[in-house]
Formats: sequence, structure tokens, C-alpha cells
Amino acid sequence: MLSRISTAAVVAQIAMGVAATPCKATTIKSTVAAWQAKYPGATVQSADVVIVGGGSAGSNAAINLVDAGKSILLVEMQAQLGGMVNSYTDPTTGNVHDFGVATFTNVTGTEAYFERLGITTKSPTFGTTTSYYADFTTGETIDYVAPDITGEFAALGTYYDVAAQYQDLLFPSYANWPAPADIPEDLLMPFGEFAAKYELNDTMLLLWAGIGAGLADMLDIPTLYMMQTFGAQTAAVFLGTDVQYVPESGRNQDIYDAVASILGDAVMLNSMVTQSVRLANNQGVALLVKNQVSGDYTIVTADRLVMAIEPTASNLAPFAPDSTESAVFDKGTWSVVNVGLVSHPSLPDDALIYNLPASAANGNDFAYPEPPFVDYFEAVGDGLFQAIVVGWDDLTEDAAQALAQDALDKLAEAGTIPATNGVPLTINAWSNHGPMDMRSTKEDLQAGFIQDQYALQGYRSTYWTGAAFSNQLSTYLWAYNLEYLVPLVVASF
Ligand SMILES: *[C@@H]1O[C@H](CO)[C@@H](O)[C@H](O)[C@H]1NC(C)=O
Ligand SMILES: *[C@@H]1O[C@H](CO)[C@@H](O)[C@H](O)[C@H]1NC(C)=O
Repeated sequence: MLSRISTAAVVAQIAMGVAATPCKATTIKSTVAAWQAKYPGATVQSADVVIVGGGSAGSNAAINLVDAGKSILLVEMQAQLGGMVNSYTDPTTGNVHDFGVATFTNVTGTEAYFERLGITTKSPTFGTTTSYYADFTTGETIDYVAPDITGEFAALGTYYDVAAQYQDLLFPSYANWPAPADIPEDLLMPFGEFAAKYELNDTMLLLWAGIGAGLADMLDIPTLYMMQTFGAQTAAVFLGTDVQYVPESGRNQDIYDAVASILGDAVMLNSMVTQSVRLANNQGVALLVKNQVSGDYTIVTADRLVMAIEPTASNLAPFAPDSTESAVFDKGTWSVVNVGLVSHPSLPDDALIYNLPASAANGNDFAYPEPPFVDYFEAVGDGLFQAIVVGWDDLTEDAAQALAQDALDKLAEAGTIPATNGVPLTINAWSNHGPMDMRSTKEDLQAGFIQDQYALQGYRSTYWTGAAFSNQLSTYLWAYNLEYLVPLVVASF
């Protein structure tokens, strides 16, 4: 994720003399010369491929490209690689709590990647919790009738069976995605309708609380996007028919620390792209990169750019998308997810408190809170609770934290949990995952949205990875890179 840089500023900078000119040698060269004149201290670095974004997708793409014999530079905004992996070490107990990415499913390439990084793995263990259901807007307990485990597994098995039929169309990439007229009706219908059609009632809360809540409006989105986020293979993990992993160390950040140590000086941390030139026909890119800590500039030139950040308008502003690119990304909408580790004496030790609206009472499995909402508070040990807050892209980190505080207050005022006595929620750790789960509409899908999106691969020397092109789960992104993106980039040389 990059910070918000106004499009106007970027346009002004481009107008100042770094806009595209006719041929490669002149353009990259003249761009570098212009930037050097403006930023005399700037160093110049070159690589075959520059990757922007050192989260799950970008880190993995970098390793795969290096292993394919390409030189790379990896530009990451944060002080470490890993993006939405959030590993928190409890200062008192020393226990590690992963509150961003929980576990890793096993798909093509997962085990080999861990091996490449020297990461040994184990099966995750989960604590036990007691479930409570309450409406966080009133604090009142909801008389939600949880399905029994047999019913829940039967319905999840049905979901698996249907999702598995469509898996090849969207996993690990959309390379096999059908022409608009051939898109299965199941994938276009709102997920709530799909779930009613296949009578998924008994597994709806599992689909929602596990992952679906991050979509913000799970019942309304085209089913395709539900399957993209919570696919057949994820269902198999919940059904216990497929494995999942965590690092032996119990600390997910170790994966990304291993990537950083392999890549060494090729990683530019605390760094953001502030301007760019991207040429047609794979003729290369130039990026002006600013280190947010030192204030130093680096001019990066590369033959190819791999974008591993979410393609929101604000993230893309320094890359000055043209009308072809904007025509695709302007059609995407995004939910925003914040994840925190919080604590409070009024939260019961072993509690998993789900937020459901009053309409969920008496066995209605199709009622979920309206965004923005706190998904749940879940005890994870050491007196800590994971809180997930979901909204649209106007949800700020402050507003998300305020929503969690408000939920706690409402629960206490209604007597659902003991009185807070004015003690505020402690935020032990917090991470704004920002825009996630890009989706478009049924109409856009029928107008060739995915075809248009994938047609951007290679356009202006730029290739795309990340959740907007595949799936938000790390292992799926790794499989997308391995089977689709990296071969495409390598073949373009
Ligand atoms: C993990 O997935 C790979 C690829 O699908 C498979 O070959 C391997 O057997 C799986 N490992 C386990 C333990 O299931
Ligand atoms: C499933 O939920 C729908 C929508 O609430 C409801 O109409 C239907 O009766 C439910 N089915 C079962 C078997 O409970």
C-alpha cells in the first residue's frame, strides 16, 4: 500500500518534463537525467524487474523471479516485508499471536516455497472458545440458534462440491475464465441467492465469520467473488480434508524475514514510489522512489514492473494510470478491513462474541451487520482478543478503533458483559489492511471485466499480481505467481 499522493501533484510533475517521449533510450535516459537534475543526491539502481509491494504476493514474486535468473529490486513502504502478516509478541508472556494472517493452506507450490525459504512448518493448534451472539449496535444478546456441527459440515460439503466444479475457472488465475456469454449463472448471482439455492443455511455463519465478512456485503456480491475469497480448497481445510500450516516457530513474520535475508540489498524498505514513467511494448520503466525515513531518493530503472499493491486510485496515482488502465480499475470497488488485538477486563476470558443483527434471531442464517461493523471479538490467549472491523473505503483506522470501543460500551451498557467502569478498550496492536477484495458487478463481468483486467498484463511494461487478480489468501497468490505471473514475465524477455 502506498500513501495518498494527489493525482494533481503527479500530473503536475509529469507536465514538468518527464512525460513519455518517442523512443526508449531517450525516454528512460532523459527521465533519469531530469530526475537527477531535480534530486542531485539521488542514486540510480537498475534491475531486470522492479516489484512494488513487499507483501505476500510481491515477496513471493521476487523470490520466484530471482530463482528464474532475473535481477530484481523490491520496493516496500513498511519497515519490513510481509504486508498483512501481523505477528505480535506479548511483552509479558513472550507468546506470539498472529492476528493478520492466521494459517497457510496447502496448494501447488506451498510446500516447495517454505522449503526454499528454510521455513519448517507444523499444523496449527487452536484454543477453545465459548460463542456468544450479540447485536453490537445495541449490545443486546441475540437468540441466534447455532447450527449443529453435523448440519454445518453437510452444508459446507455442499458448498465445497459446487465450488470445486468452478475452481479451474478462477484458480490460481483467471487464465481459463470463460467468455462473457459462457460465465456460469451460479457465479453471477448474488451470493445470498446462491446460498438459498443450495440451502447453505447451516454453514452461513462459518462462511461469514471465517472469511466472508471481509467482503463487507457477502450476501450481495456476485458469487464469483465469494468463491475467489473462500474457495473450494478453503472449504476443504475447514472440513478437515486438507492440511494447513504455520511456521514451526509459530511466528508468521519469520516467512518474510527469510525472504528479506535471501533478497538482501535488493529490498528497499520504508520506500514509496513518487513518480514513474512506464513505456509501451515492454520498453521499460523508471521509478522515482523516496525513502520515508532518510528522505533520500533512488531512481530505479527496470525492463519490467510487477505491481503487487492493490490497484486503488490513490495507490496508482504515482503510476499515472492512462485511460485504458483507469477504465478497468475505476470499475472495482473495495472493502476495507482493520484487524486489532485488544484487551479489556469486561471481555470474558474464553469468549468469541459474534456481532449479528436482531434479525438473526430464531434461526435466520441470512442476517449480517451492515458495514461498517465489528465482525467479532475472539479470545486468543494472554487476555487478548482479536477484533476485526470491516467497512467501505472511507473507513479510517481511527473510526475502526472507535467502532470497537463503541461495541464494547454497548455490550456493557446492555449487561451482556460486565460494566466497563469507564475503563477504555486497550489497543495492544492494530493493523489497517486497507482496501481488500476488489470486486465488480454482474453487469461488468458480463461486459468482459475480467478479460479487460487481464489484458493489462504487460501493458506499459507492467504486470499485476495481488488479491485483485487472484485471491487474498497468501498460498493462492503464491500459486498464481508460480503458475501464471512469473512465467508470463519471464517469457516477455
Ligand atoms: C500439499 O499440496 C501439494 C500440491 O497440491 C500436494 O502434492 C501435497 O501432497 C500436499 N501435502 C499434504 C500434506 O497434503
Ligand atoms: C434457509 O434460509 C432461508 C432464508 O432465510 C429460509 O427461507 C429457508 O426456510 C431456510 N431453510 C431451512 C432448511 O431452514
